[in-house]
Amino acid sequence: MASYLVTGGAGFIGSNLTKKLIQQGHDVCVVDDLSMGQITNLEKNNNTHLQFYEHSITDKQFMQNLLLKNKFDYIVLLAAVASVADSIARPYATHKVNQEANINILETIRKYQLPIKKLLFSSSAAVYGNLPELPKREDSRVEPMTPYAVDKYATERFVLNYGRLYNLPTVATRFFNVYGPNQNPRSPYSGVLSIISECFKNKQEFTLFGDGSQERDFIYVEDVVAALEILLHSKAQHEVYNVATGQTVTLLGVIRQMEKLIGCQLQITKKPAREGDIQRSQADITKLRRLGFTAQNDLATGLKKYLHFS
Ligand code: UD1
Repeated sequence: MASYLVTGGAGFIGSNLTKKLIQQGHDVCVVDDLSMGQITNLEKNNNTHLQFYEHSITDKQFMQNLLLKNKFDYIVLLAAVASVADSIARPYATHKVNQEANINILETIRKYQLPIKKLLFSSSAAVYGNLPELPKREDSRVEPMTPYAVDKYATERFVLNYGRLYNLPTVATRFFNVYGPNQNPRSPYSGVLSIISECFKNKQEFTLFGDGSQERDFIYVEDVVAALEILLHSKAQHEVYNVATGQTVTLLGVIRQMEKLIGCQLQITKKPAREGDIQRSQADITKLRRLGFTAQNDLATGLKKYLHFS
C-alpha cells in the first residue's frame, strides 16, 4: 500500500480521488483550508487511512515540515482557488495559492531530495484561452487570459521543468469541464452542472449567461479519477495531458438532457455572457488514450449517475 499527499483533498476532485484511494487501502494525507472544499466530502471515508489537516498550502513552513516528516510516495496537487473570476478580483492572493505554494512544495522535494514516485499538478483548459483552433491538443497554442490561467500555465511549466532539470517524476493535467458529486454548488463560480442540478432540486431559476450555445467538453469525475490513477502509475513524466472526453455539447443541450432525466423544465433567466467566457471548448485526448485511458461515462451515463438515475 502506498502513501499519498492530496492537497485540496476535501474539494471536488480531491475528495473523489481520496475516497477511491482509501477504498483501495492506501494512506492519504489531505491538506485543505476548506475555502472551497467541504469537510463533509471526506466524512464518509474510513478514517484510519486518512490524515486531515485544515491548513492552507501557502504556509511554507507547515508544508515543508509535513513533507519532511512523512514519506509520501505520491503527491497530487489539486489545491487551488479554482475560480477565474476570483483570480481577476484578487490576483495576488490567488497567485500565492495557485503558483507560489506549489513551487514551494517542488522546491522542498528538490532541496531535500525526497524520494517520491510521482508528483502530479492539476492545470486547466483555461490555459488555451479563446483561440479558435479546436480540438485543443497539448501542443496547441496557449493564450492564458486571466491571472488564474497564467498561474496554472506557469506552474505547469515549473512542475515539468523541475522534473526534467532535477530528475523528479512529475506530470501535469489540463482538466476540461469536470462534473459529479461533491462539487460545491453554492458559489457563483461553481461548475455550471452543479449549479443547474441545485436549481432543479430547489426549484430555483437558473441564470444562463449568454445564449446557451457555448460548447463544453464535460467529463464525469469518476473518469477524471481514473485518468489521475493512470498518470500516477504509468511511466508518463515531464508531460502535460488533457483530461476530457473529446466530446462536446452546448449548454442548452445539456440542460435539455437533464430536463428529460428529471422530468421537469428548468426555469431560465438570461443574462449577458460573462466577461472572458469561452465560446467553444473541446479537447483532443489522443495523448491520454495512448496511456490506456477511455472515459467510461458518456454524458448521458454520467448525468444519470450524478442525478441518481442509474
Ligand atoms: C471551466 C472551469 C475553470 C477552467 C475553465 C477552462 C469550472 C467551475 N470552471 O470554466 O476553472 O479554467 O473551464 O476552460 O469548472 N454558466 C451559466 N450560468 C451559471 C454558471 C455558468 O450560464 O450560473 C455558463 C458560463 O458562462 C459558461 C458555462 O456555463 O459559459 C460553463 O461555465 P463553468 O462551469 O463556470 O465553466 P467554464 O467557464 O467553462
